[in-house]
Amino acid sequence: MITLTVSTPDASYPIFIQAGSLNTLHYSLQPYLTHQLAIVTNETIAPLYLRAFEYALQSMGVSFFSIILPDGEQYKNWETLNLIYDALLRKKAERNTTLVALGGGVIGDMVGFAAATYQRGAPFIQVPTTLLSQVDSSVGGKTAINHPLGKNMIGAFYQPKAVLVDINTLNTLPDRELSAGLAEVIKYALIKDVQFLSWLEDNMDLLLARDQKALAYAIQTSCHMKAQVVAEDEKEHGVRALLNLGHTFGHAIETQMGYGVWLHGEAVAAGIMLACRLSEKLGFLANSDCVRVKTLLTKANLPVQAPSFAVSQWLEHMSHDKKVVQGNIRFVLLKSLGSGFVTSQVSISDLESVLSS
Ligand code: NAD
Ligand code: GLY
Repeated sequence: MITLTVSTPDASYPIFIQAGSLNTLHYSLQPYLTHQLAIVTNETIAPLYLRAFEYALQSMGVSFFSIILPDGEQYKNWETLNLIYDALLRKKAERNTTLVALGGGVIGDMVGFAAATYQRGAPFIQVPTTLLSQVDSSVGGKTAINHPLGKNMIGAFYQPKAVLVDINTLNTLPDRELSAGLAEVIKYALIKDVQFLSWLEDNMDLLLARDQKALAYAIQTSCHMKAQVVAEDEKEHGVRALLNLGHTFGHAIETQMGYGVWLHGEAVAAGIMLACRLSEKLGFLANSDCVRVKTLLTKANLPVQAPSFAVSQWLEHMSHDKKVVQGNIRFVLLKSLGSGFVTSQVSISDLESVLSS
């Protein structure tokens, strides 16, 4: 079992990473459980993993009930969030009922926000089951739902009590979802660690083949980088913005195309490519760097070409970005491969030329 720790000013919690950990909860989660648990999952994950989770809890003598939501990014909204509150209230769940998010980033973000707001704050545990959620969304306490006008616009920073990653859950993940998770893994390498980028280039075939050792290394390395960034800047006043490489463009793609049409990771991949092109336009990256990124994303079966829509629509969506300060869009760009930075010094003409190329 690999154990990492995330430390913020108000909280410190473990990330447990192990194959098979869903069946051996008692070794890791016992200290983080309260008298009652509400397990929140969706209709796809429930038949795969809910029974195993419930069985492990039963053997520990813990009281629990389960809430099964519809599946999809298009359900990451008020209506579905309300289904969680409805079930908690019907069950007379108290403030120290622990909410467990069993699923991908959609479940994790929604359950985290439900926990942040239910009776002004209930404990919660992340049990991420997609690669994307295991390397990114389950760690760091960003919780949210979407608004029709913008991704993740309604939410809170709210840290979990613990994160339990069972690498075996990736065996049932569709190929397209595995690739979507790899977009966030590649993101970490690009903003922080060029050696990890080389490792990804050398090991992409193993990752796509779901080699357990390679996956464990990629998850551990990604979570380690995320934990470092979150420890330094929990509420995104500075360095945490780097974790949004590709996201300013990616969120615009998701909103424009309709939630769920492009997977989050796919939109991020196309967004990373745009950020690289913009970095090249501004004289930071060489064309060969962009080719290197494009080759890696392509090898990971990710899109490298954003859908085509009007520059005015891009600007409209990007004006809702959470990094906007006093009306200025701030972009995460690359000084070099492995070194991200944030800037608002981008001219409309450079932006237009990259978006329309
Ligand atoms: P997701 O939660 O929609 O899961 C993808 C699909 O895989 C779903 O259909 C799900 O039911 C299914 N699934 C999950 N686990 C499975 C398994 N083990 N086997 C088979 N199928 C499985 O998508 P995601 O990519 O995990 O998360 C994307 C969301 O995460 C977006 O809403 C994004 O905004 C958010 N996000 C949040 C953060 C954060 O810091 N909070 C970071 C990155 C992304
Ligand atoms: N996924 C971006 C962040 O957690 O800050």
